[in-house]
Amino acid sequence: MKATYYGHSCIEFDFDGHKVLFDPFITYNSLAKEVDIKSILPEYIFLSHGHQDHVADMVEIQKNSQSTVVAILEMAAWARRQGVPDNKVIEFNLGGTLKTTFGTVKIVYAQHSNSTPDGQYGGAPVGFILRVGGKKIYFAGDTALTLEMKLLADLDLDWAFLPIGGHYTMDVDDAVRAAEFINCDRIVGIHYDSFPPIQINKEEASEKFSNVGKTLYLPAIGESISL
Ligand code: NI
Ligand code: MN
Repeated sequence: MKATYYGHSCIEFDFDGHKVLFDPFITYNSLAKEVDIKSILPEYIFLSHGHQDHVADMVEIQKNSQSTVVAILEMAAWARRQGVPDNKVIEFNLGGTLKTTFGTVKIVYAQHSNSTPDGQYGGAPVGFILRVGGKKIYFAGDTALTLEMKLLADLDLDWAFLPIGGHYTMDVDDAVRAAEFINCDRIVGIHYDSFPPIQINKEEASEKFSNVGKTLYLPAIGESISL
């Protein structure tokens, strides 16, 4: 089981051969120029919300891979409007748990805003809890620190992917508190460095997590980590 970082909040999991992509934003990310999106052929594409920096490459990757796009109801409708065939779109909503080929995925709360790139209502922004082969993984999407995260504390999460760049989402200090709220020791930082307002000091960030007994992982773009 591994996760490959494609920059910003774009992560591709490999669950025993099942490739699952989250929040594709690669060709417009100046830090991810080395990544060839033609080589990304997932079975599923999950969207946390509709801001461009989470969906920009969805259409092309979906076409190349014939993957299934999964999102909250209103984002699923947007995917259909982009030409994704109806049988390749799965919609669900907060509280729902989806059975997939690799495990289950539950939609959870995120404190953010949401609209689709075509300017329409995108439903709520969300995060996801993945249960795969006995492991539990939280992909937070874009979110501020919120007390709702405390609801995840007793899940015994193995890994959490948390935004750490500030400005549009939690910053490092709030992400440390979030890691405490969700009771998870292994954090992968996302949503940082891609644009000037979200640039961080990586050493300082790692230190802040280690000060509370937690580990911050910051894989390089294109790098994979074993989960
Ligand atoms: Ni956003
Ligand atoms: Mn964002």
